[in-house]
Amino acid sequence: MIEKKEIVMSGIRPTGFLHLGNYFGAIRNYVKMQEDFDCYFMVADLHSLTTHPDTKQLKANVHRVLAENIACGLDPDKVALYCQSQIFETSELYLYLNMLAYTGELEKTVTFKDKVRQNPDNINAGLLTYPVLMSADILLHRAKYVPVGKDQEQHLEIARTYVNRFNYRYGEVFPEPYAFNYNQELVKVPSLDGTGKMSKSENQMATLYLADEDDVIRKKVMKTKTDAGPTEINSAKPDYIINIFELMKLVSTEAVILKFEAEYNNCTIRYGDMKKQLAEDMVAFISPIRNRINTILKDEQYLKDIMKKGAIKARLSAGATMLKVREAIGLNY
Ligand code: TYM
Repeated sequence: MIEKKEIVMSGIRPTGFLHLGNYFGAIRNYVKMQEDFDCYFMVADLHSLTTHPDTKQLKANVHRVLAENIACGLDPDKVALYCQSQIFETSELYLYLNMLAYTGELEKTVTFKDKVRQNPDNINAGLLTYPVLMSADILLHRAKYVPVGKDQEQHLEIARTYVNRFNYRYGEVFPEPYAFNYNQELVKVPSLDGTGKMSKSENQMATLYLADEDDVIRKKVMKTKTDAGPTEINSAKPDYIINIFELMKLVSTEAVILKFEAEYNNCTIRYGDMKKQLAEDMVAFISPIRNRINTILKDEQYLKDIMKKGAIKARLSAGATMLKVREAIGLNY
């Protein structure tokens, strides 16, 4: 008998170039999980419409996100890799879940408040119900694990609320989904200037993109804030120095980190050397991924074929769920 694998689902918006935060918060886990789980990973193009109504770049961005996922090690033969808008069942489930979603709760969501601040001229209803659409993406496959970064944690809490409301009102259909990171807390990769998280569209000089050229990576890392160095043995690190150590932990070896920790503690650290080391370790990490992205992007037909294959697989799973959903609600006349 073939053992049924547990179901995993996640997505990334095509709103710009992917960066180290997307990699360490999400894609690194996708690549590990594809070996042991039944995985559904998608490009969240419908979500991008809530903040990016101009669709001129959308197709190129969708292709880029697909290529970036594959360049990081995702295998389209092992997972369903698809585009959200091609799964029409998403919109139907979104509609039903909207009846279980209270506007007062949605207005309190941190990401909604952030986006209202960033886009004061486009506070559309899609922005408010963003977590409802995201819940639909996840519940459509009855997924149990959702590999995401720390910023998505609240959305997972909301998804669990809708699961419980649905199951209570109409009968048990959905399992509760949980944010997932292998054996650890959820990840938040800080921006290079330490003022927030790395992000696709804000603050590009403080974000390391998977497509950045080597010189650009070096320039961004060398610009990070430091000071004259500690003057007292074992003193506490300022935030911006903690930040550099955090970034180092992502790409440098244990020995390198220990060396700079020791030098910090005995006040011999030279931040210029530390940043040079970090820049070279970042280059070594990013450049092979960038080269693969550029190769994959040249083959548009390959990307279209993958999306088609992914959509067939995802719609099979979505269709089976929607049969259960309609029956549970009583829409089976
Ligand atoms: P998005 O496109 O903003 O980000 C994609 C993934 O990258 C993670 N991430 C980070 N992790 C750590 N540090 C950072 N600085 C950082 N920046 C981004 C995000 O947590 C995310 O995992 N709402 C989602 C897209 C989505 C989705 C879904 C996710 C739509 N439907 C269903 C999971 C399941 C989003 O905007 O991700």
